[in-house]
Amino acid sequence: MAEKKVIAVVGATGAQGGGLVRAILADPDGGFAARAITRDPDSEKARELAALGAEVVVADVDDEASLQRAFAGAHGAFCVTFFWAHFSPEQEGEEAANMARAAKAAGVSHVIWSTLEDTREFVPLEDDRMPTLNGRYKVPHYDGKGQANHFFTDAGFPVTFLQTSFYWDNFIYFGMGPQRGDDGKLSITFPIGEGRVAGIASEDIGGAAYGIFKGGEQFIGKTVSIAGEHLTGAEMAAAFSDAIGEEVAFNAVSPEAYRGFGFPGAEDLGNMFQFTTEFEDSYCGARDIAASRALNPGLKSFEQWLDANAARVPIP
Ligand SMILES: NC(=O)c1ccc[n+]([C@@H]2O[C@H](COP(=O)([O-])OP(=O)(O)OC[C@H]3O[C@@H](n4cnc5c(N)ncnc54)[C@H](OP(=O)(O)O)[C@@H]3O)[C@@H](O)[C@H]2O)c1
Repeated sequence: MAEKKVIAVVGATGAQGGGLVRAILADPDGGFAARAITRDPDSEKARELAALGAEVVVADVDDEASLQRAFAGAHGAFCVTFFWAHFSPEQEGEEAANMARAAKAAGVSHVIWSTLEDTREFVPLEDDRMPTLNGRYKVPHYDGKGQANHFFTDAGFPVTFLQTSFYWDNFIYFGMGPQRGDDGKLSITFPIGEGRVAGIASEDIGGAAYGIFKGGEQFIGKTVSIAGEHLTGAEMAAAFSDAIGEEVAFNAVSPEAYRGFGFPGAEDLGNMFQFTTEFEDSYCGARDIAASRALNPGLKSFEQWLDANAARVPIP
């Protein structure tokens, strides 16, 4: 059998990268091998990946030389940054540049860069429908990724831009699950009115990335945008009610109110939901469900995600 093509995966112990490592390892005849990149090979998650059959190597996205070593000899590299670890679009840019330079130096044949829209192409800074944040962004955790795309294309790089969606896992890990009001009733809160949110099981992002690596050449130079479903707040609340056996209402608030909630990132997320709602046609339109399923046949609907995960959502 031909030697397997190695895919070096940044963020392998996390959501996106972990899904990709598991997708590669779940397809032993697929012709690909997984190289899991971590800062700590002794962590429980890194050991789990090694036990599944991944090669585990050490690198840090803030250390270009370590990335170059980790990418050496790889056919592909999956590149992602970690906005919520530092809240800095500038740092994301530096990390993207490090990964692009390292992949180029290592001669990688196909890079997937996990990115998002630069929302300023839709809402210029002078547009006051939403506040400008940090002096030069509308949605910092989107804009920083979008403005870093050029690092991968500047040198005619073999890259696919993967635009992801809102993780349903945020209901578990990001404090977005149902809250109990003073009236004792549960609700989920989003500033989206009757708009739709493009969402996805975070594990399915890696499955789609695997589909892109398998598709190879046809995806180079392309932007691929993925989602599992486009759902209104009322639809998500109804699905939650069914899943947990207790009524969950949808609490629509204004983007202004959401921005004022005060948790770290509230303004960023308030702007994000306003952007995705006001540009729903192009945002959801780009994230075609059938095309996402073609890349990842196991793509879950929200209901399927809830079947598997509702018990993990903290219910107060
Ligand atoms: N939450 C959402 O709804 C959503 C939706 C779309 C996009 N995103 C974007 O997804 C990105 C995060 O991806 P994720 O959710 O897959 O991350 P994650 O689950 O938080 O995983 C992060 C992993 O990356 C590793 N890591 C952190 N800092 C690192 C560094 N400096 N160098 C190397 N590895 C590092 C850590 O592994 P070790 O500790 O093992 O090194 C960690 O396990 C963010 O930029 C966010 O904006 C999020």
